[in-house]
Amino acid sequence: MKSVLISGATGKIGLAIARAFKKEGYGLALVYRSENKLSNLDEFKNDENVIFLRGDLKNFEECQKVVDAALEKFGKIDVLVNNAGMTKDKLLLRMKVEDFKDVIETNLYSVFYMSKLVLKSMLKNKYGKIINIASISGIVGNPGQCNYSASKAGVIAFTKSLSKEVARKNINVNALAPGFIESDMTKNLSKDEIVKSLPVGKLGSAEDVANAVLFLGSDKASYIHGKEIIVDGGAI
Ligand SMILES: NC(=O)c1ccc[n+]([C@@H]2O[C@H](COP(=O)([O-])OP(=O)(O)OC[C@H]3O[C@@H](n4cnc5c(N)ncnc54)[C@H](OP(=O)(O)O)[C@@H]3O)[C@@H](O)[C@H]2O)c1
Repeated sequence: MKSVLISGATGKIGLAIARAFKKEGYGLALVYRSENKLSNLDEFKNDENVIFLRGDLKNFEECQKVVDAALEKFGKIDVLVNNAGMTKDKLLLRMKVEDFKDVIETNLYSVFYMSKLVLKSMLKNKYGKIINIASISGIVGNPGQCNYSASKAGVIAFTKSLSKEVARKNINVNALAPGFIESDMTKNLSKDEIVKSLPVGKLGSAEDVANAVLFLGSDKASYIHGKEIIVDGGAI
């Protein structure tokens, strides 16, 4: 059985990604942080091919525990989806040092930690897919998101460099840059204005993102290396 480790699984996008891989018969290692959101994953509760792993991925030791537990359960990790992320939007003059640090550590350091920890097993297996969830904000920028765009631009650049290190080892590393997707992250944005500005005339769904992640995680995408795939309804 192939297995996938998905971070940020309790969020809308993470959950949709988990459902997509489950349908394809993968074992799931679902990583969450807040206990009070674990019930979002209730549908997987009594499934022996699913494990729930708690960890704050800003912390390398916690990432290590998560990866060790996933490897103990499945013996290998075929697909790693680095999906956990956060925003702390503020115009730069109001942005505190902590706001910048928190977002960079959560969105970028966690991708470094998790990729580094999982890569060893992928190299051993001579097989692996790493999919890093970035954002169009990391490509074109967005006012109020200097921290977030910097983190996601970092994720894209990290993806390209790592891909060049491991492409010959049968490991695909790619990024996926969503536009505006319905989730907790976008629930406080003024949606009417955003929708008006989008060529497609509607926000994206978590499933729109999950479909593209599933494709990148499959062997149909085996000649795609070091790219950022944009799923944004034509936004940029
Ligand atoms: N929604 C959009 O429009 C959009 C657009 C572009 C990119 N994205 C990206 O898509 C990904 C998923 O976002 P979403 O929309 O599904 O947002 P969401 O509903 O807020 O989910 C984010 C997930 O990340 C987890 N997380 C945050 N900080 C963490 C940490 N330090 N350690 C472990 N887990 C942590 C959250 O867990 P807790 O709730 O327990 O903290 C949650 O499960 C993110 O990387 C986001 O940047 C989203």
